[in-house]
Amino acid sequence: MEIKPALAEQARQLAQVEASQPFAAGWGENGFEGEIGLPCSVLLAAQEGSSVLGFICLRYAADTAEIVNLAVRADCLRRGIGRQLLQQVVLRAQQLGVREITLEVNEHNSAAICLYEQAGFKTLNRRKNFYVGADALLMGKTV
Ligand SMILES: CC(C)(COP(=O)(O)OP(=O)(O)OC[C@H]1O[C@@H](n2cnc3c(N)ncnc32)[C@H](O)[C@@H]1OP(=O)(O)O)[C@@H](O)C(=O)NCCC(=O)NCCS
Repeated sequence: MEIKPALAEQARQLAQVEASQPFAAGWGENGFEGEIGLPCSVLLAAQEGSSVLGFICLRYAADTAEIVNLAVRADCLRRGIGRQLLQQVVLRAQQLGVREITLEVNEHNSAAICLYEQAGFKTLNRRKNFYVGADALLMGKTV
């Protein structure tokens, strides 16, 4: 498995991975096409051969950044792919001069919360009813 910057021709596969996961952002193919190549965006894909197994996207401005989308294909979970994507995007953010990374996560999304906590993210705040029927946890990490 390799983790590399996503390419425009992978937009459809990225959208398929996203659609396999209910807690992902819901950008769809057009959203990924628009994201790829945007300045201030880092979109990494985990790949095996020509298959996309997962992705992570971070947007940054000066020394702050936000993880805005992350998913691993439903049939590839618990293989360490999410952890490696997160590690790689944090490294990339550090190289870009980012000092703080934040994200919002559904309070019921225990898989993602465990992943982020394992990577050293802490809950900074709670946004009441940010999602339909659920709060968002604002999590962050100094890098
Ligand atoms: C969150 C997600 C990216 C994790 O991907 P993954 O490749 O399965 O995660 P990993 O195998 O790298 O697991 C790393 C750690 O995350 C935590 N974790 C992952 N899945 C978990 C689960 N179902 N329950 C509890 N903890 C879980 C564990 O701490 C795990 O470490 P361990 O395997 O040593 O116990 C994946 O479940 C997913 O795509 N979820 C839907 C989309 C989503 O929630 N995106 C984030 C929105 S903020």
